[in-house]
Amino acid sequence: MPETVVLCGVDEVAEGEIKQASLPDGAHVALYRVGDAIYATADTCTHGEASLSEEGMLTGKTVECTFHFGTFDVTTGEPTGMPCEIPLKTYPVKVIDDQVCIEV
Ligand code: FES
Repeated sequence: MPETVVLCGVDEVAEGEIKQASLPDGAHVALYRVGDAIYATADTCTHGEASLSEEGMLTGKTVECTFHFGTFDVTTGEPTGMPCEIPLKTYPVKVIDDQVCIEV
């Protein structure tokens, strides 16, 4: 059974910024606002040990990892620019009572 985890208030995920949040197991996720929707991925780049919430730059639905300039589509987790080749794990996001929740 997936567990629903409340991460933060919806207004804490600002346009153009990347919000880091923690899961109960200590793993970090990165939250992104794209238009009116919020997306969640694993926070660690699949190419190296970069934290996307700390080192990434969000443009539209693309996050660029500034370590080696690889990119991902945050809505799908798919890599869109070298050297990233492995997709980011994504999490389904639900907004409940203005709280950002994901299923883990
Ligand atoms: S660590 Fe992210 S592109 Fe290399």
